Amino acid sequence: MARTFEAAALVATALCLSSLLGFAYGQEQFSVIGKVYCDTCRVDFETKASYGLADSKVRLECHNRTSGVLTLSAEAVTDKSGEYKLVIDGDHEEEICELQLVESSDPECSSLLEGAVHNARVALTNKNGVAQAVRYANPLAFTKKESLPNCKQVLIDMGVFPLDLGY
Ligand SMILES: *[C@@H]1O[C@H](CO)[C@@H](O)[C@H](O)[C@H]1NC(C)=O
Repeated sequence: MARTFEAAALVATALCLSSLLGFAYGQEQFSVIGKVYCDTCRVDFETKASYGLADSKVRLECHNRTSGVLTLSAEAVTDKSGEYKLVIDGDHEEEICELQLVESSDPECSSLLEGAVHNARVALTNKNGVAQAVRYANPLAFTKKESLPNCKQVLIDMGVFPLDLGY
């Protein structure tokens, strides 16, 4: 019994070492972290009135920068605060990688705001001098069909009162 346990511990140590060495030899791994929120005021930024959208789907796609060929596709689902995390292997320096919205779990907040950007670019490479393995993507938003009645006050409180947005 004790011997089996020792053997298992040895294997575990060996696996741990090899993954460390793998990392040292340039098999990078990136964690992409981001958020999906409901843009309740239809302004394309987070306010006091916006909230994270749980159980919503995003997709990360990488395309070859020159040929445009799809090189990577991965999906993630947001947690209860609207955050998602994707773990991606390898360096994608020669590719353009972008997150896009796939699906909102909330039928009341599933529209896309016209004129807004609905994807977020991330650099999945260490060759641009950014050594950290965690990459934060810009937040992405679905919106309601009508903005909430208290949005005018919310925006005044934030010091932004966008007259050109029709409030
Ligand atoms: C991208 O496409 C070009 C042209 O087809 C090719 O030469 C290159 O090897 C590709 N790069 C990657 C990383 O797949």
